[in-house]
Amino acid sequence: MKVIAIAQHKGGTGKTTTACNLAAGLAIRGHQTLLVDLDSQCNATISYLSPEMITHTLSSVLVTEPTLPLSDAIYTTHIAKLDIVPSNLRLANLERFVRFEEQYRLKKCLQTVSNRYEFIILDCPPNLGMVLNQALLAATHILIPVAAEYYPLEGLTDLDTVVVTAQEPNPHLEVLGYLVTRFDIRSGLSRQALQRVKDMHGKLVFQTVIRNNVKLQYAPAFRETIYEHAPRSYGSEDYDALTEEILERLQINRLRMVNHDKPQKATKQK
Ligand SMILES: Nc1ncnc2c1ncn2[C@@H]1O[C@H](COP(=O)(O)OP(=O)(O)O)[C@@H](O)[C@H]1O
Ligand SMILES: [Mg+2]
Repeated sequence: MKVIAIAQHKGGTGKTTTACNLAAGLAIRGHQTLLVDLDSQCNATISYLSPEMITHTLSSVLVTEPTLPLSDAIYTTHIAKLDIVPSNLRLANLERFVRFEEQYRLKKCLQTVSNRYEFIILDCPPNLGMVLNQALLAATHILIPVAAEYYPLEGLTDLDTVVVTAQEPNPHLEVLGYLVTRFDIRSGLSRQALQRVKDMHGKLVFQTVIRNNVKLQYAPAFRETIYEHAPRSYGSEDYDALTEEILERLQINRLRMVNHDKPQKATKQK
């Protein structure tokens, strides 16, 4: 099971848009996928569920005593093979209530459903708090969306520090990639931002760039993925390409892990 945290402490960088459309892209390709909304603003939740459908949320599992099993807060979506765990405002209390030693709660909950899903996508909140910590302890991979609209990189080093810190207790956490989002093809600033992300992170930057596309803003209001709402749009094309690129990267990672298991000649570290 791959657990991919979509994380970046700034708001508006495309985390939720990426989480929702990547999760759908994986499910459409036949992979059993669970989308977990970790943001108390609930944007991923309302992209798939109407409020009256929801009785239990992630805060019933992580925050409110007595806590419920995760399976009680899993809802099917209109996309076959895609389930969701909704969020609500109370999830923000996790920042206050969870003691340091309880930060593996999310990881333990996800392990209880590990035989049901190939992918779990975590839509993280826009800050560097306890919820993000729990996500990074539970994740196998982190995907970092960087908006190309403004000078986006100040503060990215803060996130790098958080990732390195999480890698101490969770050494298997891998950076799946940096994703440049909200790319304006006519803007020099967007091109500059893309170049800077590439200079900083090289091959970790996805070849797929998510272009600006207003259809990505409209789709959630109709509770549709971009593939249903505007199948011929840039948004649909780009998220489709991203899903393919991620599946390819994970395949490469798997091969790399197999190679690591074999005895290797000493090589100089680059
Ligand atoms: N590629 C894009 N083109 C146009 N609008 C986008 C794009 N990606 C995201 N948006 C819009 O930007 C806003 C913030 O995106 P969102 O995914 O919610 O970011 P985050 O979860 O990081 O706060 C939303 O209104 C969303 O519809
Ligand atoms: Mg969001």
